[in-house]
Amino acid sequence: MAFIRKNKIWRLPDHEITPEAVFQNRREFLRLMGFSTTALAASFIVPRAWAKSGGEESARAEKTRVLPRLETNPAYPIRRPLTSERVAATYNNFYEFSPEKEGVWQAMGGFKTRPWQVRIGGLVNKPGVYDIDDLIRQMPMEERVYRLRCVEAWAMVVPWYGFPLRELMKTVAPKSGATYLKFTSFYQPGIAPGQKRYPRMPWPYTEGLSLDEAANELSLLAIGIYGHTLPGQHGGPVRLVVPWKYGYKSIKSVVAIEFTDTRPATFWNTALPDEYGYEANVDPDVPHPRWSQRREKMLGTGEIYATQKFNGYGDLTAYLYA
Ligand code: MTE
Repeated sequence: MAFIRKNKIWRLPDHEITPEAVFQNRREFLRLMGFSTTALAASFIVPRAWAKSGGEESARAEKTRVLPRLETNPAYPIRRPLTSERVAATYNNFYEFSPEKEGVWQAMGGFKTRPWQVRIGGLVNKPGVYDIDDLIRQMPMEERVYRLRCVEAWAMVVPWYGFPLRELMKTVAPKSGATYLKFTSFYQPGIAPGQKRYPRMPWPYTEGLSLDEAANELSLLAIGIYGHTLPGQHGGPVRLVVPWKYGYKSIKSVVAIEFTDTRPATFWNTALPDEYGYEANVDPDVPHPRWSQRREKMLGTGEIYATQKFNGYGDLTAYLYA
């Protein structure tokens, strides 16, 4: 694994390392929704109590439950330091709440991850509506440490707690015509400020995988992180994690999974098709139209690594695209 940390580079301020990725992306989001930067800055005022509070516990808007301790699955070695929990929990992409990454966890006050149901239907033999805690009881849980590579050239390494998506697929038994899975996140503009303020975005957030991608051993439905249930800002109570793809494919707070015979429309691909592809496999050789994907910066430490094709998971996933 190429570790190319160079002090001179990682000491540069953020805006000099990923200037387009972070800054332009936000601008584009605002442009799409017809808002000026000034209007936005005023619209996400952080409550003072939150702003002043510290400690990991306070970075979870809703209280999380400790999960039974599990050994980390050794099949997926990482060879990079874990990202600090607090750093990961306070720098999030969750546009339903805020386009300001540092502000997401503070904008989630009204969001509750319990009770929560996931509807599974479409081309399956056993459709159903699952209460998230029943699902957790029924599915084989694992802890897996994965890298996550955002399309904006930042990356993190975190311990997810969850179950392989293919275990759920076995339970619902896809019909022979099923070729895609469509994932849908919640739509509650009453509690999600982003959905209310930016009605022109194609809410609810949706994502899609081919049946074969979904059945890949890496595809995980995460219900926890760092040994406790998923806090809202990480996509509680249940999210997809597909670590060989850019982070936007890892849809948060899933309420429905539909098996279909057509490729589903997805949130970012619908909003900005020239910038966010449907497949979104991590690839250092394919630049984003506005920035290079050759390198990535670790959250928290600022270490710079060379981006790897399929985010380093090619031995397990390249066959899908052969
Ligand atoms: N899911 C929903 N519903 N809404 C979002 O805005 N952002 C995506 C993805 N899942 C997003 C989402 C993006 S761009 C990234 S990089 C990851 O979530 C970030 O996950 P994290 O905040 O847990 O690090």
